[in-house]
Amino acid sequence: MTTFDQILPVATDVLGARREVLSHLDWLLINRDLNGRVRFILPECIEANDVQRSQVEELYQAVAGRIAPHAYPVASGILYESDRKQACQGTAAFLLTDFENVWVIDRLATESRWEAIAEVAPGAPRIVFFSIKGGVGRSTALAASTWALARQSKRVLVLDLDLESPGLSSALLSTERQPKYGVTDWLVEDLVDNGDTLLNDLYGTSDLQTAGQIYLVPAHGIEPGEYVAKLGRVWMPKVTRQMQPEAWSSRLNRLVNSLEEMIRPDVILIDSRAGIDEVAAACVTDLGAHTVLMFAIQGQQTWTGYQALFAHWQQRGVITEIRNRLQLVAGLVPDDERRLEYLDTLRADAYALFEDTYDRVEAGEISDWSFEEDDDNAPHAPLPIRWNRGWYGLLSLQQRMVQVDENEVNAVYGALIDFLNRALTS
Ligand SMILES: Nc1ncnc2c1ncn2[C@@H]1O[C@H](COP(=O)(O)OP(=O)(O)OP(=O)(O)O)[C@@H](O)[C@H]1O
Ligand SMILES: [Mg+2]
Repeated sequence: MTTFDQILPVATDVLGARREVLSHLDWLLINRDLNGRVRFILPECIEANDVQRSQVEELYQAVAGRIAPHAYPVASGILYESDRKQACQGTAAFLLTDFENVWVIDRLATESRWEAIAEVAPGAPRIVFFSIKGGVGRSTALAASTWALARQSKRVLVLDLDLESPGLSSALLSTERQPKYGVTDWLVEDLVDNGDTLLNDLYGTSDLQTAGQIYLVPAHGIEPGEYVAKLGRVWMPKVTRQMQPEAWSSRLNRLVNSLEEMIRPDVILIDSRAGIDEVAAACVTDLGAHTVLMFAIQGQQTWTGYQALFAHWQQRGVITEIRNRLQLVAGLVPDDERRLEYLDTLRADAYALFEDTYDRVEAGEISDWSFEEDDDNAPHAPLPIRWNRGWYGLLSLQQRMVQVDENEVNAVYGALIDFLNRALTS
């Protein structure tokens, strides 16, 4: 049976056996369309040249014959374009491994582009709390980190982007301090150029006793309103007045920029959605994250997801753009005699995940991106968060945060908080 995963290996094999034909081509694009069917896109001049045209038709036929359900008849399987860049528009082309003039382009049903990694945003560092699996203590850790940073006189802006299962606002704001609107409202109003009228009512400040201040932008306002109807529209791209399309992640970026300009925070903490999801992609890759905290708990499910993501970044050649922003966090570490063994296993799995992203150095060479498994400063070294009865199954995190003291927070979240402090001062 031939499936999607065979497309690139087959193409590599067939094209590899016909390098002579390829050497006469300026470029060849392997276009995988929305349904996962392959077309070749080639320079216009080839179409006019009978010899070359029949060569590329033979080439296409050879690939198509081996990936059948994922190909077209030759007559509709080849397109000719004057310009390669134009043909690639709206996609992130990547070179087919081992070739210099063959690119692959993917047309996806979602906007999520895990491979398009925005540069680190200037201004306040944006720290993204991300996990492959849900329920790993990510939002609780974000709440505790927010509190700790605000205790150190920081102005902390927090965004709840887990719109499909919101909750952070109830953690950090008492009911009377919940703002009228949330991220969802802004994204919907922005579609009709009405977003900025909401800005002043989009955040609540916390009454927790801290030297700094906490500004929280929830997923929705105190009255969620027609939340489901709004949610169905938030991920819409927008057509601007100049009739230009604008991806929703770019709209989200505008929101974060506007909030930053208004609130002037020292740091921005973002609660992303769990999983290889479109919203998570925007948080991790589009918002110019300074640091991406990758929450993990022991178990194959965690690693399968992260491995898929790392493999994608490797294949698209962007791993070096993102690798130095990643940091592993171990959520819900057992609080008993199993702790050390648990952390050791987690570290070994994390090292297996990160190893290929590290530089390989020969004896005598130096690289600031080469780490041993036992290096505590390596991004794979898990920052442990202990499972602790006091933080388990809280009805109100707000109540918990009112009562906690520094020692209690540090006992559970100290390693994460220390890391954040170092990250913010480096
Ligand atoms: N350090 C901890 N010790 C014990 N229980 C915890 C700890 N941190 C979080 N929990 C509990 O684990 C559960 C999940 O926590 P939380 O909501 O923070 O996870 P999450 O990763 O944000 O989940 P989701 O994917 O649903 O957003 C909650 O019941 C919470 O009270
Ligand atoms: Mg959460």
